[in-house]
Amino acid sequence: MVEIAQARLQLLVGAHRQTFGQLPAIIAQAPGRINLIGEHTDYNDGFVLPAAIDRDVVLVATPRPDRRLRIQSLNAEGLADLDLDELAASGEWHDYAAGVADALGRAGYRLFGLDATVAGTVPLGGGLSSSAALEVATAFAFSLASDLSVTERELALLCQRAENDFVGAKVGVMDQFVSVFGRPDHAIHLDCRSLETRPIPLPLGEHGLALVVCDSGVKHAIAGGEYNRRRQECAGAVAILKGKYPEILNLRDVTPAMLRAASGLFGPDDQIPLRRARHVVSENARVEQTIDALKRADWAAVGSALWASHASLRDDYAVSVPEIDALVEIARGVRGVLGARLMGGGFGGSTLTLLHRDVLDPFTAAVAAEYPTRAGREATVYPVTIVGGARVGWVELGENEQPGGETAGN
Ligand code: GLA
Repeated sequence: MVEIAQARLQLLVGAHRQTFGQLPAIIAQAPGRINLIGEHTDYNDGFVLPAAIDRDVVLVATPRPDRRLRIQSLNAEGLADLDLDELAASGEWHDYAAGVADALGRAGYRLFGLDATVAGTVPLGGGLSSSAALEVATAFAFSLASDLSVTERELALLCQRAENDFVGAKVGVMDQFVSVFGRPDHAIHLDCRSLETRPIPLPLGEHGLALVVCDSGVKHAIAGGEYNRRRQECAGAVAILKGKYPEILNLRDVTPAMLRAASGLFGPDDQIPLRRARHVVSENARVEQTIDALKRADWAAVGSALWASHASLRDDYAVSVPEIDALVEIARGVRGVLGARLMGGGFGGSTLTLLHRDVLDPFTAAVAAEYPTRAGREATVYPVTIVGGARVGWVELGENEQPGGETAGN
């Protein structure tokens, strides 16, 4: 069952009909995400602890008998008209949708075309995985329209492949997996090697807590070279560590004690790979510590892990920027804040803050008062609700062909 506000559905259906002259038959919805902890660990085969949030991409579509993908967005100008047999990256937002069609095709799935209209509430470039949400919504829509027999896990992996191979951002599997497998009031513990997912209860409300996203207003471009460079630096660290531990495949296989014992292998020119490894290895350990702390409902320990994660991302992984550091420092100055850190790929985007709900107003006020002078711009602060993963279904429209009583489901 896809549940979206009537007003939003009306807007989507209206725009769809205006452009394509037809009502949509399919509706797919895929959430963005926060990541409680486990940053830059996914492409090192490590552990992550993300959760799906109440910011999403909704896509409505009409299947076509041919092999064209026509797609428009309520968030962007223009209509893309693409031939599924001649797909090529364009640098535009619709590459994420085209890339999914491309990845499905390359995996041997025969697709019908689609006319599609999307609308998103995941801020673009805010570090909340707007791209994964678009990919997953597109994949679910194609899957239903073309009656594919494909598992959700494979769809998530194909979405990642779309981003890796078509868009050219060598992202890990975290964002696509949580967009597919998210659960209300749970974080998803994902082992990025085995791809096993385990829901971990996140009873924030019961404990009077909230998770708050602060968008720094600094747009990050993940396809930019720094993210891909971090991957190479991690591979460089693994190559050095193999001198002592030939059995390791990647940084997932290295414990903090192993890394300490091998630090002599890193010469003066290898300090960057050493620092990157220190972040990844310690971050994997923090994911496990956070899960233990959650089991004990030790929220102070969860908060400490968030502060430590930020310091590690800033100092060892070098993916922070002054604006993000400023948001974390402002958070630190507010009583009742338990922890905060950079979230997502970095180089801008958002922070995640864990706080007592009753200090949400003072926290928001502190950001409004201090951030503009420190950063020369404004930040957007919003608490998030933890929701379930992607859905797809048929749009059911009323007799007069108005989109009332939408009851899509699968
Ligand atoms: C981006 C990528 C993810 C992950 C994070 C960093 O969000 O899409 O795969 O690597 O950065 O944790």
